[in-house]
Amino acid sequence: MKKAVYPGSFDPMTYGHLDVIKRAAEMFDSLTVAVLNNKTKHPLFSVDERVKILEEACRDLGNVKIDSFSGLLIDYCRSQDVRIVIRGLRAITDFEYELQVAQTNRILSHDGVDTLFLTTSLEYAYLSSSSVKEIASFGGDISQCVPDFVADMICAKYKGEE
Ligand code: PNS
Repeated sequence: MKKAVYPGSFDPMTYGHLDVIKRAAEMFDSLTVAVLNNKTKHPLFSVDERVKILEEACRDLGNVKIDSFSGLLIDYCRSQDVRIVIRGLRAITDFEYELQVAQTNRILSHDGVDTLFLTTSLEYAYLSSSSVKEIASFGGDISQCVPDFVADMICAKYKGEE
């Protein structure tokens, strides 16, 4: 069975992430979207909330599973018996960092884990979770960036309702 992991912070998931998820899900028998539980960052959404958002957005994708992980990605991959990591590339500015991480993961895993890059669809190439949060924090329109239910959740956070 061909398996892959798509790791990330997903704080929150955007249409750009969803595009990568859908395309990767067509390439593999099983795709796990793995939310990093990064205790050094101060995310807008808890890991549980980020997992729930992804579960709702991917509920029609039968071969996509949502999970979370802490620590090293290669350790998570080993625990799941997965050797392929998916990452999206929006622009050349992403590439340097992504190349470094991919090479590090190869070395740390003794060539056990490879990274496969999908170029983000052009209509989402401008999108990032950070910009979505910034737009929302100033009351801007994020309806083109995230599904409606996610936009509602983000707005509720900034209005202090949650
Ligand atoms: O969505 P992001 O924040 O760009 O995702 C980054 C992520 C989660 C893929 C990366 O930070 C990661 O894999 N972190 C786990 C720690 C790790 O394995 N580090 C070693 C590679 S430098």
